[in-house]
Amino acid sequence: MATTLSARGERSISAYDSCIPETTDNIYDEESNPSGVISLALSENHLIHGHVVDFITKNFKIDERTATTYSGTTIGGVDLRKAVAKHINKHFKPAVPVGLKEVAIANGVTAICSMLAFMLGDVGDGILLMRPIYGKFENDLTMVAQCKTLYTNMDDTDPFVEDVVEKYAARLAQAKADGTNPRALLICNPHNPSGRCYPKSTLIALIKFCAQHNLHLISDEVYALTVFETADPSSTPFTSVLEIDTTGIIDPRYLHVEYGFSKDFGAPGLHIAALVTRNDEVQQSFEAIGLLHAPGGPSCAIVLAMLEDDNFVQDTLQLTRAKLAENYSLATGMLDKAGITYWKGGRAGFFLWIDLSRFLLPTDGSWNDHEREKILAETLLEGGIFLNPGAEWAERPGWFRLIFSHEKGKLEEGVKRLINTLYGQ
Ligand SMILES: Cc1ncc(COP(=O)(O)O)c(C=O)c1O
Repeated sequence: MATTLSARGERSISAYDSCIPETTDNIYDEESNPSGVISLALSENHLIHGHVVDFITKNFKIDERTATTYSGTTIGGVDLRKAVAKHINKHFKPAVPVGLKEVAIANGVTAICSMLAFMLGDVGDGILLMRPIYGKFENDLTMVAQCKTLYTNMDDTDPFVEDVVEKYAARLAQAKADGTNPRALLICNPHNPSGRCYPKSTLIALIKFCAQHNLHLISDEVYALTVFETADPSSTPFTSVLEIDTTGIIDPRYLHVEYGFSKDFGAPGLHIAALVTRNDEVQQSFEAIGLLHAPGGPSCAIVLAMLEDDNFVQDTLQLTRAKLAENYSLATGMLDKAGITYWKGGRAGFFLWIDLSRFLLPTDGSWNDHEREKILAETLLEGGIFLNPGAEWAERPGWFRLIFSHEKGKLEEGVKRLINTLYGQ
């Protein structure tokens, strides 16, 4: 039957491939359904949900302007943008303080990624990204803006050292030879799915690389304040690109930071995120396109209340970090004991990038790599554990992202099921 959709409408359907549904009606609950499926696939901060909901319940108030006018929420409204600028200045240590005019709010980092791709690239223009990387960037950059993702293989180069620019340079040259016009490099710092942070020297190298090739640098810093203590000596503290004095290195109009309240504040349902940019044209374009991605007044009011309460911010960040540190230690301890390896050096975010390649079916030509990963994921599902196969653009088959930001008992049970299923116990 002929489609009722446009060609791009049809493409949007195939772009959304979640493989095994994230939702099933058989969800684990320690009390009511202990044999249900435990999903360690979705990046949510379950560790502070009660704390956040309590705050919202006690403090939610909405004023007339935010609730009943358009201007009260246009690109977040003045009060929220001021509060976000203050928050960034306090926690990101920017080399030049961020002002109200440099902050614009939309309904999620997802929306801001899509808007940036739309504003900076034309249809078919390229955006460089490393592999592995947060899988949904693909949708963000391609679905509406129709930019092309230029995934860059790291081979054996550590993606967080300065030499990584050579990898991006090679991918850039290849894209140009193929007739693609590259427009931007998108990095994720702290990095999803490994939890690693970029050293300052690498950020400077990446900024220089972008300046040299007329590329915008987009830094997704949505996990910026989740950085926790670990005993891993290879882990690097977080540095925001805003902290770098870019005078004489790059035209500041080419640097853009994305930040949101989904992770550090455990509130993805509020759908509030900020773009920080010193590019006036981007700000103007954002204001226009932002009408399609406007945040809701109640959400703006809630995030404003959170940011205006210094004690709440402090307690929330401390709680997240302390619990993440405990859970990281629990999960890595169990994986270490079971001989399951993962990328070292993680100290932020909710995830571990784990290597299950030796548990894939052998490569005898019957299945392609994606099918082999799906078969393994199906086996895990039978063992009561869900990990999303092929979701994060891994370079080699068999790598999965494991989310550890769950209540301790659930995490322990999930990792135990994973290990038992892998070893056929
Ligand atoms: C790196 C990264 N960027 C963006 C998002 C989505 O952010 P938001 O909830 O603000 O749309 C996620 C969610 O998992 C993420 O991991």
